Amino acid sequence: MNILHIDSSPFTENSASRELSAAIVTAWQQTKPAAKIVYQDYGTNPPPHLSAEAMTSLRSHQYRYLSDNALAEIAAVNQAIEQLEICDVLVIGSPMYNHSISSHLKTWLDLICQAGKTFRYSSTGPIGLLKNRPVFIASSRGGIYSYGEGLAHDFQEPYLVSMLGTLGLKDIHIIRAEGINMSHPGRDVVMANAMQQIREIFNLPAMTQPA
Ligand SMILES: Cc1cc2nc3c(=O)[nH]c(=O)nc-3n(C[C@H](O)[C@H](O)[C@H](O)COP(=O)(O)O)c2cc1C
Repeated sequence: MNILHIDSSPFTENSASRELSAAIVTAWQQTKPAAKIVYQDYGTNPPPHLSAEAMTSLRSHQYRYLSDNALAEIAAVNQAIEQLEICDVLVIGSPMYNHSISSHLKTWLDLICQAGKTFRYSSTGPIGLLKNRPVFIASSRGGIYSYGEGLAHDFQEPYLVSMLGTLGLKDIHIIRAEGINMSHPGRDVVMANAMQQIREIFNLPAMTQPA
């Protein structure tokens, strides 16, 4: 079993999405001890943006006479798609940035969304070419967006569900820590609730409260 684990918060200390994505991977490992993990830390090592040269080449399938930069970008596309194709489970740590995902994660999406490779066009719209498999999104955000006034401003979770769904990944589970930066109920409670959500999904024993 292969797990592709992606983080996209540039913060390595006190990152809620990193903490949760790591807990999800650990929970999978407890269920499948032989699982192999491929880890991509796009938060600190973002994928390359695609140049016009690379995008033109990918669309036309002409790979001759390319600059070294374009070749490196195309290699990054191929590697990202290959990692996705061979994984059985995808785990993504995603902080909300300006109502959407971090640009670090967006550049990865721009790599993997390739017509003819991960989706194809049809008369009724795009059709995903990836085999469906479970996707776990560790979503963190400073405020509340799952209900109330924030709902209309959530371009993070619905966007990820939409784009991954376009590629054929429709079995999406969201573990959400929202209100991280609000005083009530506070980060500790929000994180404890999200961790509890993970334990329930994986049938792990609940944390016992200290006496
Ligand atoms: C550049 C930036 C933009 C942010 N934009 C939002 C936002 O639009 N809405 C929100 O609720 N929180 C926003 N936040 C707060 C983060 O979503 C929150 O701190 C989250 O926990 C970050 O994930 P991390 O802890 O894994 O880094 C923003 C934080 C940063 C640094």
